[in-house]
Amino acid sequence: MKTVPKETPKDVAKALEPVIKRYREKKGNTISLLSDIQTTFGYIPEDAVDHVSRVLNLPSAEIYGVASFYAMFRFKPEGKYVVRLCRGTACHVQGSWLIGEQLQRHFGIPEGGTTEDNMFSLHYVACLGCCSLAPVMMVNGTVHGRLSPELAVEVLESYRSKA
Ligand code: FES
Repeated sequence: MKTVPKETPKDVAKALEPVIKRYREKKGNTISLLSDIQTTFGYIPEDAVDHVSRVLNLPSAEIYGVASFYAMFRFKPEGKYVVRLCRGTACHVQGSWLIGEQLQRHFGIPEGGTTEDNMFSLHYVACLGCCSLAPVMMVNGTVHGRLSPELAVEVLESYRSKA
């Protein structure tokens, strides 16, 4: 199994310097602070929470409390390819739920999860705004439409072979 390279606490502290500078004088901005941490690392590493908690004198329980409340924050890195499978009405009636089941089975990932090789993360989302192409999934911003469960797997396998 491939492992995701992990930042050391020293790397984390270094990467957070501009963020710390920005929030040193601004209290009560936990959501923006978390958002900047996530932009820096692609997720919210535990070492980053420890560091900002210590340096900004913010209780880590408060940071974790806010981060856990909002679905946009994640504590694990996303895969190289983020797959957003539409579960809006048009896509649902065209069988997007079957695509979801097939992707979960084929890649062994639950909704919201990431494959062990860190290649794909799978998220179910509301209407992506291209219902005429239903059922639709978006892979890192590229839309793939008129999918079947088999075609969706083929599309993702083609990303894997390009990687
Ligand atoms: S319902 Fe899927 S794109 Fe609109």
